[in-house]
Amino acid sequence: RLPADAIHLERFTAEPQAPGSDAALDSFDVQLASSGKTVRVDSKTSIVEALAAIGIEVDTSCGEGVCGTCMVDVVSGEPEHRDHCLSKAERASNSVICCCVSRSRSPVLVLDL
Ligand code: FES
Repeated sequence: RLPADAIHLERFTAEPQAPGSDAALDSFDVQLASSGKTVRVDSKTSIVEALAAIGIEVDTSCGEGVCGTCMVDVVSGEPEHRDHCLSKAERASNSVICCCVSRSRSPVLVLDL
């Protein structure tokens, strides 16, 4: 019922992270707390992609670290948070990670999966 020129549409995306702008390791291992199964995450692969390769599906929506759909509890290890949705308290506690964009500062990241 609105005239077309009265509608304004904006799409938002996360700013890309500059290479080398953080302390994340190029590659690291993600271990599943439930089974002990481990998968290597290399520099060209996201945690979500690496987990999918071994049959572990993590729900995603934006794929850009904005929505929080891919949030998983961290059991141990130090995440490199590259999302735009966690609170300061969540980042400081390192208790959760957004697996679509975030990486790891520690060689092994154990997730509650
Ligand atoms: S899928 Fe949206 S933050 Fe990861």
